[in-house]
Amino acid sequence: METNSATTQKPDYIGLLNTIALAESAAGVYLEAWADVTPNCDLACTLRLVAAREKSHGEVFARRLCELGYAVEKKTDPSSAERLALLSNPNVSDLEKVGERKEGSSDPFGGIRRRLAEGEFDPMTTNLMNWYIAEEVDSGRRLREAYDCVRGACETSAQPACGPSADAEAMMACMTAGFARLEKSLEKLVKAAK
Ligand SMILES: [Fe+2]
Repeated sequence: METNSATTQKPDYIGLLNTIALAESAAGVYLEAWADVTPNCDLACTLRLVAAREKSHGEVFARRLCELGYAVEKKTDPSSAERLALLSNPNVSDLEKVGERKEGSSDPFGGIRRRLAEGEFDPMTTNLMNWYIAEEVDSGRRLREAYDCVRGACETSAQPACGPSADAEAMMACMTAGFARLEKSLEKLVKAAK
């Protein structure tokens, strides 16, 4: 069990945890605000999924800071209001919001991965970081694909329908199958009890 507290030496990565907690919480707000105004249902679906993850990352990193004996130190981001105003503006097109595709070859998590490899973090923070990076990489891929569709670079970019997505349909099919099985089991139980 984690027993570290402010009485022990402050780990070097507390600032990093704080930065991640703040940045992720803010990103969750931006993406949700965008999802609320986009007319593109597929894009909204991806934005909401990633926004939920970002908010969760913000909460979990804030909790980890508390567990280590620290609290989130709020910092003012001077560009925050402007970014939120842009993304929540329904009169600004999604195309403008996604902007041009950025071709980045460097790993944005390279620094953290190196620190993980060097064993800098305590075991629970190490687990947290690995989970966080895995979700961030997946979220990045989902956003890139959704942004490419907005730019007209995907097969379904014509006019996204507002029906359930393939993922949602698959989930519903699984649930329906599950309920059917449950219903049969209950029927058997009732028969056996008679
Ligand atoms: Fe993020």
